[in-house]
Amino acid sequence: MTTQRSQAITAIGFPAPRAPRDAGGAAITTAERLVALCEELERTDLRPGPVVDAAFGELVRLCCHPPAGCTGAVLERVAAHVDRLRGLSSAGEGLMEQYWADRIAGAADPAAELERFPYLGNYLDLVRLEIAALAAVGLDLPRRVVVLGSGPLPLTGLVLATRHGAEVLHVDRDPIALEAGTSVAGAVGARTGSLVADLSSATLSADLVDEIGRADLVLLGALVGADAAAKEAITTRLAAVAGPGTTLLVRTATGLRTLLYPEVHPADLPGLDVLLEVHPRTDVVNSVLVARAPR
Ligand SMILES: C[S@@+](CC[C@H](N)C(=O)[O-])C[C@H]1O[C@@H](n2cnc3c(N)ncnc32)[C@H](O)[C@@H]1O
Repeated sequence: MTTQRSQAITAIGFPAPRAPRDAGGAAITTAERLVALCEELERTDLRPGPVVDAAFGELVRLCCHPPAGCTGAVLERVAAHVDRLRGLSSAGEGLMEQYWADRIAGAADPAAELERFPYLGNYLDLVRLEIAALAAVGLDLPRRVVVLGSGPLPLTGLVLATRHGAEVLHVDRDPIALEAGTSVAGAVGARTGSLVADLSSATLSADLVDEIGRADLVLLGALVGADAAAKEAITTRLAAVAGPGTTLLVRTATGLRTLLYPEVHPADLPGLDVLLEVHPRTDVVNSVLVARAPR
């Protein structure tokens, strides 16, 4: 998930203020506002519209750019609401993606409609950050990419395919989401493959095993695996079938951003060697772990 459109690096008030005058008071106000937004969103159907968009916009902004020095105290105060907030965020993101996928695929000029997607700039930022993270550990641009949990609006794969020439396979357990993603890809002229698979199931299909073994990069979407234990199980299965040249990119979150997405630390992934951990403090919401299967 991302929060704002941009051409270059997106950030609100970046760098964040460093000297809190009243971090305790700010923590109370922030926590109360987060819970109020949670309750407000629960009174809606979460479909895109002025009220839902405004509430999610404020929620994401608060989680990405909280007042300085209050993250720990806010997390303590909202601990009882984490599952509710993550559930709302994940459901809202799915509905927003489906709405925009339908708009783009049904538009007379799909490429122009995609440009109107308010968070396109942030996907560009996120993919650029991920490519830079790969470069930082000495890896070239990936040529074959498998995106796990690609969703109805698979912008990561579309950016990699259309702007970086990668061959991309989108994987999702939801056939409707996958179909929507395939329609968007076709509408904007991207040639991507698709495969229905549930990464939480104990066995991976022969097709998926083959694709993972041949991929340069396997990207585990932030919403695949609800917690660290699920991420461990999924990444252990992926590591077992990864090829010698396969890198895994695991999206995670840190700070208040963990109220939007599950948090996973390198120590939660004993099946992988984690080479690099990147935590943006910009409007890019997700953190990234770059990992390889142990030799
Ligand atoms: C909201 S969407 C897209 C996410 C977002 N665009 C991103 O970059 O992470 C999340 C998708 O993950 C898929 N998903 C969640 N858990 C999964 C699993 N265990 N196996 C496969 N797909 C999964 C859902 O079906 C959904 O379509």
